[in-house]
Amino acid sequence: MSITILAIESSCDDTSAAVVKDAKILANLIAGQKVHELWGGVVPELASRAHQQNIVPVVDLAIKQSGILKEEISAVAFTRGPGLIGSLLVGVSFAKAFALALNVPLIEVNHMQAHILAHFIDNKPAFPFLCLTVSGGHTQIVLVKNFLQMEVVGETLDDAAGEAFDKSAKMLGLPYPGGPLIDKYAKQGQADKFIFPEPQIAELDFSFSGFKTSVLYFLQKETRKNPAFIQENLNDLCAGIQKNIIDILLKKVEKAANQYGVTDIALAGGVSANSELRKRFEELGQKNNWKAHIPKFEYCTDNAAMIAIAAHYKYLAGEFAAQDTEPLARYHL
Ligand code: KG4
Ligand code: ZN
Repeated sequence: MSITILAIESSCDDTSAAVVKDAKILANLIAGQKVHELWGGVVPELASRAHQQNIVPVVDLAIKQSGILKEEISAVAFTRGPGLIGSLLVGVSFAKAFALALNVPLIEVNHMQAHILAHFIDNKPAFPFLCLTVSGGHTQIVLVKNFLQMEVVGETLDDAAGEAFDKSAKMLGLPYPGGPLIDKYAKQGQADKFIFPEPQIAELDFSFSGFKTSVLYFLQKETRKNPAFIQENLNDLCAGIQKNIIDILLKKVEKAANQYGVTDIALAGGVSANSELRKRFEELGQKNNWKAHIPKFEYCTDNAAMIAIAAHYKYLAGEFAAQDTEPLARYHL
């Protein structure tokens, strides 16, 4: 018998719906929210309102595009957390109502687990593998034992890597989200012109708040001497900041992979769209004879296809959710 999952992702500022049949993506639609650009970051209240407007048309179009009939849906999956509570509520409430109307089970999915399981859309890392999950809200090294058993072995003590990109970009006067822009300008810059102190954090954990402060102080000092400093050095600054963030991340991945003796390493989350990180992750694998898995661009940032694929494995394991399942702003793996 076929397993057809309709999945909804609404944890932050993208409303997404996907249809997956027997682990194959039939549709994966994402409605972004332009409204936040004006504010230099995601405004939670505006995000929930935009989800409210987008969710019905996005789900409707995903079902139409997939070519399935509603009656074929085996289960409705949703992101339970972590994320913005108001945003999550829209997706969770919609999923519950839809499952009730279709008389099919519900499946709740952890957003971070889904970022990792996005690898199984068109790839098959060998268990156990290590995954570096880097997004706007999280930075984790996860030991993935099987589809549903995962252990966080290292994480950030303060800011996430995506925040380090976005906040540095803001200091450079770039709009939100700045990560992709740093990536773009860094391509024309020299990475060794500006070097920032590397945080000394124990074990496999990370810290980016000190890094952010050192970028801030450095920029303040230089612009006092030359008000056009940022403008004149934008490409090199972007390349330097990017290199520093990547150095911090990859040093810990290498340490973790050696410590756990894995042969497969994987990259996940929004920051894995970064071209330099992708390149250096690949090189790290080659250097150590590890298989490096990098997701396709469309599955790096938030999307419902990853929620659907995670739900597919939960369906196989018989892990269903009750109608009174609540969203969780914080939801550990
Ligand atoms: O996973 P994601 O879409 O949402 C969260 O769950 O947070 O990740 C968003 C983050 C943002 O911080 C964004 O700036 C970053 O991913 N990002 C990038 C790039 N594309 C997205 N950071 C650096 N380089 C990129 N190309
Ligand atoms: Zn995410």
